[in-house]
Amino acid sequence: MSLFRKLLSSIFQTYVCYLYENILTRRNEADFLPGIRNICFIIVRTKQQFDDLIMAGYDLSDYDSETWSLLEKGVLAGLLFIEKDLASVEWIAQNPQANSAINIYPLKIDFSLREAYAAGVWTNPKYRRKGLHTYVYYKIYDFLRESGKTRVLSIVASDNIPANRAHFKFAPDERIYARARYIQLFNLRFWKESPLTQEMSKNIFDKVDNRPEYETTFFQK
Ligand SMILES: CC(C)(COP(=O)(O)OP(=O)(O)OC[C@H]1O[C@@H](n2cnc3c(N)ncnc32)[C@H](O)[C@@H]1OP(=O)(O)O)[C@@H](O)C(=O)NCCC(=O)NCCS
Repeated sequence: MSLFRKLLSSIFQTYVCYLYENILTRRNEADFLPGIRNICFIIVRTKQQFDDLIMAGYDLSDYDSETWSLLEKGVLAGLLFIEKDLASVEWIAQNPQANSAINIYPLKIDFSLREAYAAGVWTNPKYRRKGLHTYVYYKIYDFLRESGKTRVLSIVASDNIPANRAHFKFAPDERIYARARYIQLFNLRFWKESPLTQEMSKNIFDKVDNRPEYETTFFQK
């Protein structure tokens, strides 16, 4: 990103997002297993666990201490490794404190209804398109279901084709329950949600699914 665009985006940003809901149901792990060997999925809940992974030789060098301080606010991280290489990640908020640490949008999550918020989805560029994030979805959503959660909400920018397709690939029954317009001007933030019907959600998915292959640069490290 050029310096000018960086500067401009710190002053003004606007984009459309899709708001996803996944109703947690029991799924079959075999349907989501990637065809890669030596994978290992770990849920990390504490800074101590994170330090233990580093001591054991797992490569977490892409994350700084500020990121991992999220764990102290109750955020969970689902980490998928190939041998000791970090391959794919997703972050989860299961309570209001964790939510305010990772949810930068004014999206309401009702924790009293056992909802959770998922964000920070990322697959290491060397391992993309191998089904790894689909497996992370399976593992995290299954963990949340077993912990008593009923529904997971998440947000994807409407022009992020890989991330939108990855949602539907994991759960074709998932739906976009609303479209939101986000505007930020200096410190002022504006957020407007427009609810979508099941049919509107399906139309969006059909459109996204028919787009050509796409190489993303979103959040690429
Ligand atoms: C989105 C992202 C996490 C997907 O990770 P991944 O491990 O490559 O995903 P999977 O291999 O499980 O792909 C699942 C499906 O998503 C879709 N998909 C993934 N990458 C795609 C791409 N570049 N172009 C088109 N569709 C893509 C496909 O439907 C794919 O299934 P298929 O390969 O059987 O057709 C990864 O592209 C990424 O890290 N992007 C940058 C970070 C980001 O944008 N995060 C989202 C923030 S909301």
